[in-house]
Amino acid sequence: MSNSGDELLDYFYPYRSRYPVFDRLPDSGVDKGEVLRYIEDMAGSEDALGDEGRCSGSIYLGDHDHYKFLSEVFSHFAHANVLQRDMYPSATKFEGEIISMVAKMLGGDSRNGEVCGVLTSGGSESLMSALYAYREWARKERGIEDPEVIIPVTAHVALDKGAHYFGIKVLHAPVTDEYLVDVDWVSNHINANTIAIVGSAGSYPYGLVDPIEELGKLALEHGIGLHVDGCLGGFLLPFAALSGWKVRPFDFSVPGVTSISVDTHKYGYALKGTSVLLYASRQLRKNQYFTYPDWPGGLYLSPGMAGSRSGGLIASTWASMVTMGSAGYRKIANDIMVTADKLKEAILDIDDLFIFGDPLFLVAFGSKTLDIFHVNDYLSQKGWRMNGLQLPAGLHFCITRPNTAEGVIEKFIEDLRLAVEYAKRDDIGGAKSGALYGIAGSPEGNAAVDELLSGALDGFLDVAPQV
Ligand SMILES: Cc1ncc(COP(=O)(O)O)c(C=O)c1O
Repeated sequence: MSNSGDELLDYFYPYRSRYPVFDRLPDSGVDKGEVLRYIEDMAGSEDALGDEGRCSGSIYLGDHDHYKFLSEVFSHFAHANVLQRDMYPSATKFEGEIISMVAKMLGGDSRNGEVCGVLTSGGSESLMSALYAYREWARKERGIEDPEVIIPVTAHVALDKGAHYFGIKVLHAPVTDEYLVDVDWVSNHINANTIAIVGSAGSYPYGLVDPIEELGKLALEHGIGLHVDGCLGGFLLPFAALSGWKVRPFDFSVPGVTSISVDTHKYGYALKGTSVLLYASRQLRKNQYFTYPDWPGGLYLSPGMAGSRSGGLIASTWASMVTMGSAGYRKIANDIMVTADKLKEAILDIDDLFIFGDPLFLVAFGSKTLDIFHVNDYLSQKGWRMNGLQLPAGLHFCITRPNTAEGVIEKFIEDLRLAVEYAKRDDIGGAKSGALYGIAGSPEGNAAVDELLSGALDGFLDVAPQV
């Protein structure tokens, strides 16, 4: 293995030389105290970047007292299986209340109590479940056997994944100069096989809210579904709007919206592993249920893809929501918007950078004069972790609570200015952080990237190679 190969391995497997590697069960169990020492050491160092506010997205709250409280709640039900509803009726209480609170937060009151939902393991499962429900609905109600869905190119890729799993054809709608879905394009591509259209609130790359009202009109006109992906923004934007920030309407108050996904494990500040998928009606939701009366193992009923689910996650998600309350969410949402606004102003002031669209809480930026990945290289060196975008190239900073701490965004802006100066130099060679993005975008390039990414997954699923 070459030096750079070793460096890469150490990067992804930093513990291979510090702790024992278990590729099979140890003969006798390891001492619990020793295991806790490993865990505390790993967790402490891994959290540092997010806690200091140096990371885009990912760590949404960064408040360890809150996490400790949620973990305490979790611990009471961690071992409980929600499938056993007779044994653990608390889970039924928590689940129903989470869904109801989220429905009310997202305009549910405007639909005469019809809005209902399910709890899933995360945004991807929510998006995939919605696609599955629309496919089943369209097959039963419309006889559609070759389903198609229209999604913006900027919509989250889990929709492509779900469509791939469930045999649904995806039509990718382009975006306008404002990076919002091109509604005319969507309108022109709806056909007899279209089961649903999709808009984001906000989109993963740019954090922007698509014109949901216009999409709603199309959905009503054609009698098809409109899913709003609020996985990222759904728990933040309603509270930003309450504080007077201008947010384009995207929830059930918009006619034509038939489902919304919103992640409790992002700006809902719950532990990782939950999201809510809301439906406009029980008839639509029923399409994702699975019941099987003839199984020798007994009568089987399940609302979604998961079988056993931990009562701990449901209880702690509920606990996060009721302890934050509207006021808690609103305060943080406002701080996030203020911070994003400062960043936006600063970027507008840097000639070599431009901003994608008119951002709210997530600021995506690129450059027409520099390689933006050189900017990223410099920022990484300074200890910042941005998210890279492609087609076109860019970076985004998704503002979360740790980024709102005093002085953090000011320091970032200072480093961003220096990063732009660095990117202008002509002695720095190719940008490291953009190497892979440059290859994608053509059939041959994509095939090469597919191969590399699959190889990476193989590697991640193996134990660490020996030092
Ligand atoms: C807009 C949007 N939708 C869906 C998802 C997928 O969520 P998850 O990673 O929880 O599966 C994300 C994740 O960032 C997102 O930003």
